[in-house]
Amino acid sequence: MKAGGSVMAGATMTPAPAVGTNGARPWDGFSHDMAEVERILREESCSGVSLAEEVCRYVHEAGGKRLRPALVILSCRALGSDSPEPWYAGAAVEMIHAATLLHDDVVDHAQSRRGRVTVSARWGDGPAVIAGNLLFSRAFGMLARRERVEELRVLSNCMMTMCRGEIMQNVHRGNLEMTEATYTNVIRAKTADFLAACCRIGAMLAGADSRTMERMAAYGMNLGLAFQVTDDLLDVCGDEREIGKPVGGDLREGKMTLPLILGLQSATPAEREQVRAIARQPAITPEEFERVRGVLLRYHAPERTRRVAEAYTQASLDQLDPLPESPARAALAALAESLSTRSK
Ligand code: IPE
Ligand code: IPE
Ligand code: MG
Ligand code: MG
Repeated sequence: MKAGGSVMAGATMTPAPAVGTNGARPWDGFSHDMAEVERILREESCSGVSLAEEVCRYVHEAGGKRLRPALVILSCRALGSDSPEPWYAGAAVEMIHAATLLHDDVVDHAQSRRGRVTVSARWGDGPAVIAGNLLFSRAFGMLARRERVEELRVLSNCMMTMCRGEIMQNVHRGNLEMTEATYTNVIRAKTADFLAACCRIGAMLAGADSRTMERMAAYGMNLGLAFQVTDDLLDVCGDEREIGKPVGGDLREGKMTLPLILGLQSATPAEREQVRAIARQPAITPEEFERVRGVLLRYHAPERTRRVAEAYTQASLDQLDPLPESPARAALAALAESLSTRSK
C-alpha cells in the first residue's frame, strides 16, 4: 500500500489557527504560562541557519494544539508549584513533538499537517529530516543547559519507546490480521508514553512524591491512548479542514487502526477479501476508500472505537480523584473529557 495522493495537498490551504485564537481550550486559564512557552519556542527556533530557521518557524506558526506543553504546565500547577521551569520543559516537549511529526510525515508520505503542506512535501525529505534533528538537539540541549538531568532521562527513554512503537507499526504495515492487543502496544509506545512523560515531568518539576508522579503518568498514559484511538477514528470519519490532515491517510499507508481492526473482526470473509484487495493496491482511490468505510460503518466500527476511547478517558479521569481541587486540576479533567469527543 502506498500514498495515493492527498485530497488536500496544496500550498494555499488555510493554516490551522494559532493556539488560543480558535475558541476555548481547557488550558485557556493558563495563558500566561502558555505564552511563555511560545516565547521560548520562538527564541529556540533561531538557529542561525536560514533554511532551518524558516522550516522551524513554519512548523511552530502553523499552530497545533500545544497539548504536550499544556500537560507539563497543568500537571505542575495542579500539584501546587508556581515555578517557571515548566515553561522550558513545555517548550522542549513541543519541539520534540514537532521533530517527531516532521519525521513521521516523511515515513508516512504525508502531504498536509496542521492545515498546511508538510515540510517534506514543500522542501523535500532531506530538509524535513534535518530540521527534525535540529529540533531534537535544541530541545535536549536546552534541558541540558538548565541541568534538568531527570527530565532528560525521562524524555530520552520516551523517545526510545516511541521509535520502538514506530518500528512495530512499520513491521505490521499492511498486516490485516493485526490484533487489537498488538495495536494497543503500538499506540502505547508511539503516542501515549510521550503524553505520560509530559505529565510525569510536570509532577517532577512540582517536587511530587513517587506515588503522585506515577498517578500523573497514568493519567497521561490513558489520556494518550484515548488521544491516539481518536486520531485513528478521525482518519476514518473526521473533517479534513478541521483536522488539518487528509482523511484516509492511514489506510493508504497500510497503517492498521482500531476502526479497521474492529470492522474486520465482524466482517464476512467476502468483505475481508474486498478490503484486503483494496488495501493491497499501490494507490487507493476515493471510491475504494468509501467502499472500505462502508464495511466499517456496517459493523459500527466508529461507534465501537469511540467507546474504547471513552473507557481510556474514564481511566485517566479516575487518576485525578485524589488531587486537591484547583483550576489546573479542573483543566486536566476538562482536557481528558474533551479528547475522546474531539473533532480535531
Ligand atoms: C499528532 O499529534 C500526532 C499524534 C500523536 C496523533 P497532535 O494531534 O497533538 O498534533 P498537533 O500538535 O495538534 O498538530
Ligand atoms: C502518531 O501517529 C505520530 C507520532 C507518534 C509521531 P500518526 O501517524 O497517526 O500521526 P498523524 O496522524 O500523522 O498526525
Ligand atoms: Mg502520520
Ligand atoms: Mg494519524
